[in-house]
Amino acid sequence: MTTLYAHRGASRMCPENTMAAFRQAVREKADGIELDVQLSKDHKAVVIHDEAVDRTTNGTGEVKDLTLAELKSLDAGSWQNAACKEETIPTLEEVLAWIKGTDMKLNVELKTDVYPYEGIEQIVLEQLDRYGLKERTVISSFNPETLKRVRQLDGTIRLAVLVWDETKGMVKLAQKLKAEAIHAKKDFMFTKEAVKAAQAGIPIRLYTINDLSELDGISLSSIEGIFTDEPAKLRKELAAMLL
Ligand code: G3P
Ligand code: MG
Repeated sequence: MTTLYAHRGASRMCPENTMAAFRQAVREKADGIELDVQLSKDHKAVVIHDEAVDRTTNGTGEVKDLTLAELKSLDAGSWQNAACKEETIPTLEEVLAWIKGTDMKLNVELKTDVYPYEGIEQIVLEQLDRYGLKERTVISSFNPETLKRVRQLDGTIRLAVLVWDETKGMVKLAQKLKAEAIHAKKDFMFTKEAVKAAQAGIPIRLYTINDLSELDGISLSSIEGIFTDEPAKLRKELAAMLL
């Protein structure tokens, strides 16, 4: 069975990385949600993809230069859907408090590829622990240094190596970190690293697939999971394949 993660929540229907998008992911029968975490000026873990708030809110400036109160005053919904004008940038804690009452899996992506956000690893691990969510959470990052710090702080937390364009050495990194999976774009499947991953028994989850035809012949049996903006559509397509 292919695990479906709602990418930034069910972000086709609802503004990405908002509570509306996470709740929609449940309605769309995703198995889990993926979200992006950064730190505010006052070191609070907040859920937002870009380093700047400009694209997804009515504000301007970088997340790292704005306090939580300033971030919380922004409208994070109207840019995508006027009906979602009440949506704000969630704190990680808000999402954890909500997800605890569901059976959803969680992928926390630490967005440290531009700014390293000193201390983010400890803050996130502490919150996952406090909410008792470590077992159903996998932490990923494009930044290997971030993943190494997470592993140093916690010997058992589930990790995934997140791959952008440079694929070389990713299987070795995953092995060194005792990561459970590699999260990659579909092109990864056509590289030598994908063969090495299969040989090493490391599962691969692909982002971002919004139509199964995008898999270009990649066998579903060769991937363990998919990140999608449209879980309901993918769920339907997967079911149709089994008929
Ligand atoms: O974690 C998968 C995916 O979210 C990585 O890319 O840019 O959407 O965070 P991005
Ligand atoms: Mg992400």
